[in-house]
Amino acid sequence: MKGLVLAGGTASRLYPLTIVTNKHLLPIYDRPMIYYPLDTLAGMGIREVMVIVGGKSVGDVVELLGDGRHFGLDLTYRYQRGALGIAHAIGLARDFIGDEAFCVLLGDNILRGDPLADTARRFEEGAWGAGTLLYEVPDPERFGVAELDAQGAVIGFEEKPEQPKSNLIPIGVYFLRQDAFDVIDRLAPSGRGEFEITDVLNHYIGDGGLFAEVYTGSWADAGTVPSLLRAAELAEREDIEGTLPAPVARPMDPA
Ligand code: G1P
Repeated sequence: MKGLVLAGGTASRLYPLTIVTNKHLLPIYDRPMIYYPLDTLAGMGIREVMVIVGGKSVGDVVELLGDGRHFGLDLTYRYQRGALGIAHAIGLARDFIGDEAFCVLLGDNILRGDPLADTARRFEEGAWGAGTLLYEVPDPERFGVAELDAQGAVIGFEEKPEQPKSNLIPIGVYFLRQDAFDVIDRLAPSGRGEFEITDVLNHYIGDGGLFAEVYTGSWADAGTVPSLLRAAELAEREDIEGTLPAPVARPMDPA
């Protein structure tokens, strides 16, 4: 399985913190934000990862991460011009992915406590077309939101609805296959002018095509000021409880 980390976008919800720097370089407790999704992919046993960069400080992201050897990863980069959404960013990786299954991590998603290696393997070996992980939040209108039937199966996702149909959101972890690139090619932009990941996931719902289960670890995103603080608190708490893997080495350390 290959990996993608999305680290583009304008991060305007974090202004003025992100006027001159890339959101994914901001600190979450004791390390830059982007270390966490890379660590999550490494924990799944993934080695080949493409980082989709965009927005501010792209050179700094590359200088920080280098070739990825300090994360146990083999990193390559691709540049996303403009903030056209998650599905657009994924579409840039078609040639890199080839015909392998892959996992996409949003660069501002912090996951701790459940390493997901088994989940990744189950998706890779299964017949689902796509997969995501769900998490219960008090403020679902800020995210994609799942609608469930009486049996608890997902029957649709809505992006940032005014009237959320549940408190379960798809977090920024997506399992996909090569076929997703054709789905992305056919997408139309949403009302906010972005190519939405929720539209990609909706394509696979029905006939057991979508893998969706609740994430059992701890999760936070870091895309707004309050959530940036919560993410840091989560990272500190999990660190104190000793569940964090050993802090990754600084990429500038000698190999
Ligand atoms: C994105 C997705 C949303 C998802 C969220 C998780 O939203 O569009 O479906 O629930 O990430 O972090 P964003 O916060 O990038 O607008």
